[in-house]
Amino acid sequence: MTNKKNDISSYLKHNGFIIPNAEIYGGFAKSWDLGPYGTELKRNLKNLWWKFFITSSPYNIGLDSAILTSKNILEASGHLRNFHDWLVECSNCQKRHRLDNLISAEELLKFFAIKDKKNFNLEIKCPSCQQKNLSSPRQFNLLLSTDLQINQEKEENLAYLRPETCQGIFVNFNNIQTASHKKLPFGAGQIGKSFRNEITLQRGIFRTREFEQMELEFFCQEAESEKWWNYWTEQAWNFLNKIIVNDKKRIKKISLEKEELPHYSKKTLDLYFDYHFGWGELCSNSHRGNFDLTQHNKYSQQKLVVKINDEFIVPNVIEVSFGVERLLLSILEDAYQEEIIKTLQSNAKKESIRSVLKIHPLLTPYFVAVIPLSKELKDLAQQIYLDLLKSLSFNVAWEESSSIGKSYRRQDSIGTYYCLTVDFQSIQEQIVTCRQRNDMTQIKLNINSLKNYLTEQYEKHWREFMNE
Ligand code: GAP
Repeated sequence: MTNKKNDISSYLKHNGFIIPNAEIYGGFAKSWDLGPYGTELKRNLKNLWWKFFITSSPYNIGLDSAILTSKNILEASGHLRNFHDWLVECSNCQKRHRLDNLISAEELLKFFAIKDKKNFNLEIKCPSCQQKNLSSPRQFNLLLSTDLQINQEKEENLAYLRPETCQGIFVNFNNIQTASHKKLPFGAGQIGKSFRNEITLQRGIFRTREFEQMELEFFCQEAESEKWWNYWTEQAWNFLNKIIVNDKKRIKKISLEKEELPHYSKKTLDLYFDYHFGWGELCSNSHRGNFDLTQHNKYSQQKLVVKINDEFIVPNVIEVSFGVERLLLSILEDAYQEEIIKTLQSNAKKESIRSVLKIHPLLTPYFVAVIPLSKELKDLAQQIYLDLLKSLSFNVAWEESSSIGKSYRRQDSIGTYYCLTVDFQSIQEQIVTCRQRNDMTQIKLNINSLKNYLTEQYEKHWREFMNE
């Protein structure tokens, strides 16, 4: 068995997971679409996150706020002033680079400590043209804006696309509190699109202008904030550990140095995955203190506060922020395996390679597929398929390749957890063969017991996942 650290992007494109956007026109803005299986995987991932962080917690509640964001919000949140990356340009080939991609983490820390950054000279070659013509680093704001065209040439036409989903939670703090009757501590979570005008777009869906975040903002008293910080950073780590099922060595935690902290953070613990191109951050947990609510109070002249013992306080915030696409990529890279399998063909032993996605059974695009062994069995197989399709909460696929071996290979390649094969015994004895993806073991099941068996298996995985 091999779990290679290879670039599997062409596999993912070929098998309907991740596709370059507008490919028939040569691609557009280095953005990406999800194919049929990527779409199901993403939905399952978001559902699982929602259950794990929001609806299975007695403290938390959900929200869905607008993507279009007013300048006021981003002025208060500090994004207009502080949301930037350090950009370096090559005067020879005009290519732009992120400074943190050019120098080591230690050199970057030294750079942050320098006061006169304008005269910082980079004595290194441009990675694109290999000439030593790089400019001094300058700040590049990452906000993406759009023109609402309400009035001609008026400032109110300007709207931003939110750079993080959490600001929608902060500005709605009073409404959430009043409507839900929640007392501290409590959290509000949201899943949705965020946008950033990234300097460099590389590594497929790892860094894009348009992406989704799954964020939890947990409000508590300052005195309890360390306790909740420990609790939620541990939960974030648990969640990652549960979905990266094959190689736990590919995940790690990194605490940020003071100089590296985002402008809103008192401390940050990032979670990393070892992608085929190296380690990359996929989750960021921050102790945001009372920065955000204090800023919105100041700029809006409102009172985003809670009353405790006749005193008004501004709660602290502990944040867990996962990027959906980065998580998707890590799940797929962790899951992809090539195995040598031995089969018997015309009494001769044959070896072949199966490519299989060993994705967690709750995340995999299809939990089960129904396969007729031959054309004559199609009607019965269809009946079983349509019955399962309508009645269960998980996804069911139909599979009809030219041979049973090919059908199994195809379902393995998209990660389907169980394959139900309808054969002649199914007609005579009402029995189907149920094959499990990982070890390819097979059991016989009565057609009448299929729904119960599959539901039990599925719920067993849910229970295991939700238990701490
Ligand atoms: N609200 C906190 C926040 O937004 P962040 O570290 O800037 O923190 C959180 O972003 C997560 O969002 C990252 O860990 C990453 O998974 C994802 N993310 C950020 N920028 C991204 C981009 N350009 N493309 C894809 N995912 C991105």
